[in-house]
Amino acid sequence: MEKLNGKKKLAVSVFISGRGTNLKSLIEFSKKKNSPIKIVLIICNNKTAKGINYAKKNKIKFLIVSYKNKNKAENKILINLKKNKINLICLAGFMKILSKKIINIYKNRILNIHPSLLPKYKGLNTHKRVIKNNEKFTGCTVHLVNSKLDAGKIILQKKIKIYKKDNEYSLAKRVLKVENSIYQKAIKKFIETNL
Ligand code: GAR
Repeated sequence: MEKLNGKKKLAVSVFISGRGTNLKSLIEFSKKKNSPIKIVLIICNNKTAKGINYAKKNKIKFLIVSYKNKNKAENKILINLKKNKINLICLAGFMKILSKKIINIYKNRILNIHPSLLPKYKGLNTHKRVIKNNEKFTGCTVHLVNSKLDAGKIILQKKIKIYKKDNEYSLAKRVLKVENSIYQKAIKKFIETNL
């Protein structure tokens, strides 16, 4: 990837599938003075996702892509990433697994946020499994995406204490708040240390 020179901002595409609170936080980050990113394109695989409203409200281009045919979906995504000169992809609650093709083309340029202390609790239903296992701590992690699920290099991670009164819902709520704040910090760190 090209070095960031002076005022040039990274062109970012955020991928979502649902509610979009992490997208909202990234949009806020992009609007800050001296932010290193500009969100150019939002990609969503679900036409009823609430998160699309953040794209509309902020007048950011968005693309809804049906995943009925994954190959076709990814080709459409790739064309649009190229057309918009995207430098960095941020997965923010994107519930589809990207194929090796996209991962290779955007090698070390795809970040994901995951609601656990990776490498523990990869995959889905993390909070439910964490509570079931009586863990004392959980957390959230921003990491680079490689071809193995939730296994790329960790950029930033935050540990969160689990209270006796917690259930999967209270925990999800608390972790999400932290996710919303660490994604911004992780992007900053990623840019400072990798680009
Ligand atoms: C977040 O908790 C995110 O970590 C999780 O989905 C939620 C999306 O919330 N992502 C994954 O589990 C990916 N495997 P949001 O739509 O409000 O950002």
